[in-house]
Amino acid sequence: MEFRCVATCGFGLESVLGFELRRLGMQDVQLQDGRALFTADAPGIARANLWLRTAERVLLLLSEFPAETFDQLFEGVMAVPLGDYIDRTDAFPVKGFCINSRLTSVPACQSVAKKAAAERLKRDHRSPFLTEKSGVTKMLRFSIVKDRCSLMLDTSGDGLHKRGYRPLTHQAPIKETIAAGIADLARVREDSLCADPFCGSGTLLIEAALRARNIAPGASRSFAGESFRFLADAFREERAAAIAARREAPFRAVGSDIDPEAVENARLNAKRAGVGDCISFSVSDATKTALPREALVLANPPYGERLMTPAQVERLYQEFGERYRAAPSKGLYVISSHPEFERQFGQKAARRRKLYNGMIPATLYMYF
Ligand SMILES: C[S@@+](CC[C@H](N)C(=O)[O-])C[C@H]1O[C@@H](n2cnc3c(N)ncnc32)[C@H](O)[C@@H]1O
Repeated sequence: MEFRCVATCGFGLESVLGFELRRLGMQDVQLQDGRALFTADAPGIARANLWLRTAERVLLLLSEFPAETFDQLFEGVMAVPLGDYIDRTDAFPVKGFCINSRLTSVPACQSVAKKAAAERLKRDHRSPFLTEKSGVTKMLRFSIVKDRCSLMLDTSGDGLHKRGYRPLTHQAPIKETIAAGIADLARVREDSLCADPFCGSGTLLIEAALRARNIAPGASRSFAGESFRFLADAFREERAAAIAARREAPFRAVGSDIDPEAVENARLNAKRAGVGDCISFSVSDATKTALPREALVLANPPYGERLMTPAQVERLYQEFGERYRAAPSKGLYVISSHPEFERQFGQKAARRRKLYNGMIPATLYMYF
């Protein structure tokens, strides 16, 4: 059976996500702001959860309908055969958001959608009550954008950026999904040498190594869909295939940070992610360290928002720029939200891309 699905992602990563979906063999991929639609069978849904590096969630698209009023929202949800997916005893929390729409109150929309879902489930299961006590949670998510509602069933559970290797974060860590997007845009290969002179908890290099070694980012975590009867077998089989797909690779990386505690955390995180043997971390000042000439440099320096003051980061960017230009590497990919990054660094980027690092609008500056 085929399902129309939605993979959500941070703004700016849609095209990377689209390539990932096509590489995984998904059909009818269609990109929209912050998400990609695609068609997949049950194994495809499990594969998407296990393998997508830049997606935040994988959802089944149950219905799309106009929702200019609460009545339309109620009727739209009521029209979906929810009993096909949600059992009488399953919990079905409802979460959503509204953008550029007449309906603006998210709590009110959530409550209307929940009531409609409950009515539909009672009808489908021919039961006057629902217990929500099976221990299985089927989260319904909706988005109302320009008065159109998408109603979806969440197959991921925790956001897919939660790989499970990073309980130890340093200050201002980059989201794993954004780090993976940067590794993709930098075209990290199985034989690449990568460097991160502001490594913090090591996320950029760990994501680069996972990619180089063909390690599925979700192989060590669980997913909501594993407890859905119609997806459970597919998840079991695809997880076994994902574990078997790991490969040895000549990939190497060097990470450094001025803070010894960050370096210690990065080492532990890399080990936990199963890539500790190919990344070496050390304490070092990025303004004084020469980077390997053959390296693809991935960097997430402080922005002057969460870490350091704007004046301090400007000086840091200047000194890093001077150091870098004295001995440039094969490529440099820097993400920063500082509007003056290029000027302070002292060089215009060959390419730029707007990316959101969580809620922070930032730009990826690419030098090659
Ligand atoms: C935004 S954080 C990096 C976060 C990292 N990408 C992660 O996922 O955890 C910036 C890092 O730059 C480090 N840093 C600041 N000044 C530095 C310098 N001069 N040399 C090296 N690292 C520096 C900080 O200690 C901090 O860990």
